[in-house]
Amino acid sequence: MSDAPILAPVNLVADLDAAGDFEKKHTPHIDLDTAGDTLVVTVTVGWDVPHPNQPDHYITWIELLANDAPVARFDLSPVATAPTVSVKTALDAGTVLRAVAHCNLHGLWAAEVTV
Ligand SMILES: [Fe+2]
Repeated sequence: MSDAPILAPVNLVADLDAAGDFEKKHTPHIDLDTAGDTLVVTVTVGWDVPHPNQPDHYITWIELLANDAPVARFDLSPVATAPTVSVKTALDAGTVLRAVAHCNLHGLWAAEVTV
């Protein structure tokens, strides 16, 4: 059972450069790599500051939304997996891509980019 509040808001850090380690270790980092007509989206949690990855504290899932529509979701296990996921997409230019990550102790964290 998670200790995170069920109805907690999504944390969306406006200026990650000015944020502390707590925010940096939870906020998803989004990488975009174009390969022909395909856009490969890679999301890493703990890019600047590693997030714990132990049974009592880990990233339980990462979800991608395109213009608020869910397009991919990854359920993760502690220790056996790292909180980095990639998916090939076919998104139109101008789409707002949001990555949301869930920490079992610290709730929901998001980042956005426009593709
Ligand atoms: Fe956490």
